[in-house]
Amino acid sequence: MTSDRPLRLAIAGLGTVGGGVIRLLETNKALIARRAGRPIVVTAISARDRNKDRGVDLSAYEWVDDMGTLAGRDDVDVIVELIGGADGPALTLARQCLAAGKPFVTANKAMIAHHGMDLAHAAEKADVALKYEAAVAGGIPVIKGLREGAAANEIGRVYGILNGTCNYILTTMEKEGSAFADVLRDAQELGYAESDPSFDIDGVDAAHKLSILASLAFGTALDFGAVSITGIRDVLAADIAEAGALGFRIRLVGMAENGPEGLFQRVHPMLVPTSHPLAHTDGALNAVVAEGNFVGQLFFQGRGAGDGPTASAVVADLIDIARDEYGHALAMASAMLENQPKADAGTRTGRTYLRFTVQDRPGVLAEIAAATRDAGVSIESMIQRGAGNDGGVLVAIVTHAGQERCVAQTLERLAGSDSMLAAPMVMHILD
Ligand SMILES: NC(=O)c1ccc[n+]([C@@H]2O[C@H](COP(=O)([O-])OP(=O)(O)OC[C@H]3O[C@@H](n4cnc5c(N)ncnc54)[C@H](OP(=O)(O)O)[C@@H]3O)[C@@H](O)[C@H]2O)c1
Repeated sequence: MTSDRPLRLAIAGLGTVGGGVIRLLETNKALIARRAGRPIVVTAISARDRNKDRGVDLSAYEWVDDMGTLAGRDDVDVIVELIGGADGPALTLARQCLAAGKPFVTANKAMIAHHGMDLAHAAEKADVALKYEAAVAGGIPVIKGLREGAAANEIGRVYGILNGTCNYILTTMEKEGSAFADVLRDAQELGYAESDPSFDIDGVDAAHKLSILASLAFGTALDFGAVSITGIRDVLAADIAEAGALGFRIRLVGMAENGPEGLFQRVHPMLVPTSHPLAHTDGALNAVVAEGNFVGQLFFQGRGAGDGPTASAVVADLIDIARDEYGHALAMASAMLENQPKADAGTRTGRTYLRFTVQDRPGVLAEIAAATRDAGVSIESMIQRGAGNDGGVLVAIVTHAGQERCVAQTLERLAGSDSMLAAPMVMHILD
């Protein structure tokens, strides 16, 4: 289908992604029109500061101070929200747009993770598109991959590296043997990490994306609140070295599984065998693995952030809308999504890495060994390293496969012991 009738956009938010979208629409204008079957043009733009230099010529577009007026305009067909934040102006705009019966495109994972169910319902009611390819893993077309390419499969597990900042920090620590705090500071100076990095390094950003992937993969209601989250602040250079000696690399992995026990969603640093493709996903890259019952294992990898990759995903959504090709936001009618209970992580089985920082005195190893034995945890390997500056000794253990509840019981038995100089580090192993 081709038409001369352009698809007319209003873009709210002109930062990294908004600027990228404008540059991409200009650079690839003719190709996009051919692929979309009609031109995609920008009618109006809005952000906070009209006078800010954004490194892109905006003089051809109408500046709108009050983005609340965009939904009501007859010369705007689609609103593109690139502001960010789960609530506030982004959410208000989304609601106004869908209520006005206009398609809505966003890169905002926080908003989709928290309000995606309501927004999907509103889009369905208005029979318009709600698209958010850029919200998960930036330029990687993983939403499309799950919604469309893998739609015929029952997917049992979806997992991956969903935050480029964390991956950059962990892989730099790995290469340089540096401490977390030093690498974070360098990453901030280089612009790879925000001045307030907590959403990234504490795993919240990855959890937003994981909850969206889980809903799409399993046909379950979005349930961000059920994701258990641990970030990477407590990963030591020594953990990375010990993991390396044992044949693993440490990655912040978002993992979701759906089964008879319910929906399991967790973001935490994991030990990944060096033979696994996630162990070779380095720097700021993202990667997602989905396991379907007919297709087998799918592996998606690419750049998860930055103006170019993110704009690529936003404009792909716009091309779908221009072609009039869109379906339900969460891959099926929202009434079809199942409400799965949260699975009990204790019943999961697998191997675990445990690191203790302990007093340098006789009997401590025996104390740890007794706690594991009494909790029914069997030890596959144990490494003890000599005293650090604080006089502590590092004991790293890899367990045989067993129930996670037994590992938790081991830690309960050791809690309060005056042999322990710091909270233990627990990382499960991706097998
Ligand atoms: N950056 C990435 O690589 C990336 C990747 C994937 C997804 N995303 C998502 O894309 C969205 C945008 O991210 P970004 O990195 O482009 O953010 P950004 O560079 O901080 O830009 C945000 C834009 O929103 C505008 N804005 C902020 N608060 C506003 C308000 N109250 N009213 C009106 N405008 C407001 C800002 O206006 P001023 O410029 O006038 O201050 C700015 O233009 C977020 O949801 C983010 O999670 C980003």
